[in-house]
Amino acid sequence: MTRLRTAILISGRGSNMDALIAAAKDPSFPAEIALVVSNRPDAPGLAKAKAAGVAAAAVDHKIYAGREEFERSLQIVLETYRIEFICLAGFMRMFTPWFVSLWRGRILNIHPALLPSYRGLDTHERALADGVKIHGCTAHFVVPEMDEGPIVAQAAVPVLDDDTPQTLAARVLAQEHVIYPMALRLVASGAVRVDGNRVLGAPTPHDAALIVPAASAEPGRIA
Ligand code: GRF
Repeated sequence: MTRLRTAILISGRGSNMDALIAAAKDPSFPAEIALVVSNRPDAPGLAKAKAAGVAAAAVDHKIYAGREEFERSLQIVLETYRIEFICLAGFMRMFTPWFVSLWRGRILNIHPALLPSYRGLDTHERALADGVKIHGCTAHFVVPEMDEGPIVAQAAVPVLDDDTPQTLAARVLAQEHVIYPMALRLVASGAVRVDGNRVLGAPTPHDAALIVPAASAEPGRIA
């Protein structure tokens, strides 16, 4: 089986990166993690990637005059490693339309909210402030607009009375670690297809949509 050569782009701790690397250890997983790149040389995730035996590189955005210059360097690194697919995992840079169109259909992101609700930052604080009873996370294809693009998989979790942004974040993060590998598997295996703004063809509904019942809503742990 040829496995899709995938790069994970991070800016920080890389817990979603860990989940993707762990899933791809299974030789039957349709993607291999061939590279981790961080725009921050001090990202803790880089050391974790190396410890897991994955090639890791930093492309420091601060040394470039602009976003496109940064992206051209990044692109050279991706080409050097013959990367075919990208997973953004806590990567805190917006891409130019040039880079997104280069990778269109070959780049996923994980977002800590049930899109299209709560695009952007501080999703857990905003969900609590709004009093919503259900929150969650979304794995989606990347398009030029921030936190938009066809949705591959989502998980919904309950919001509990005594939640803080931290406990809610931990509950959501535990599900990010479940749905991101699930989404990469669906896309890399060719099981799903994009039809306009919809991603169709998941073998069962549970392959694309998870609902965590309140009874099993442990806060989870932040690695
Ligand atoms: C996650 O909550 C992800 O949804 C968001 O940034 C965070 C990254 O966390 N895009 P980690 O680096 O994967 O632990």
